[in-house]
Amino acid sequence: MNYPLPDLAGRTEIERLVNAFYDRVRSDEMLGFIFDEVAAVDWSKHLPKMYDFWETVLFRSGGYTGNPLAAHAKLVPLTGMGRPQFDRWLELFRATVDGLFAGENAEHIKNCAADMANVIHLKINGIPDPRTDPANLTPEQRARYAAYRAGTP
Ligand code: HEM
Repeated sequence: MNYPLPDLAGRTEIERLVNAFYDRVRSDEMLGFIFDEVAAVDWSKHLPKMYDFWETVLFRSGGYTGNPLAAHAKLVPLTGMGRPQFDRWLELFRATVDGLFAGENAEHIKNCAADMANVIHLKINGIPDPRTDPANLTPEQRARYAAYRAGTP
């Protein structure tokens, strides 16, 4: 049974991916209770929101408007939201994608997830992002940001 896997082509595949991913998340020892007990997520709302989110990320349709940073920041005082949790989240996400899809969009969605996991993790834990650490800026970037802050870009 060596069928080649399809790539993510649109909303239908996004919905399959999101449903399969949260099935795994909910039965995961490290993450399940964060959704079902800590945040007491209403899945009838969360799943469609996540279809919209990933459709917006991948295809620029989907119409997601929301604030992922705030949604996760409010969990920080309530439960562990550190690197181990984000690594586990990513492991489940990648495994779900790889179990169902293969191709350019499948690779792209995994990269997007990894980038966003990094940003969300750093921001909600107040850790400076090494890419924007002033110590790592070029003189040109430093001057541009200073001008932007002073309102004279
Ligand atoms: C430790 C890893 C993570 C945990 C435990 C987690 C948990 C949650 C929970 C509980 C919510 C629902 C919040 C609420 O409605 O009250 C949520 C929302 C959401 N999560 Fe995560 N999340 C994680 C990582 C990520 C990552 C890496 C992404 C993006 C790639 C992501 C994208 C989203 C989005 C888009 C929402 C909806 C925000 C909104 O309300 O607009 N999550 N997450």
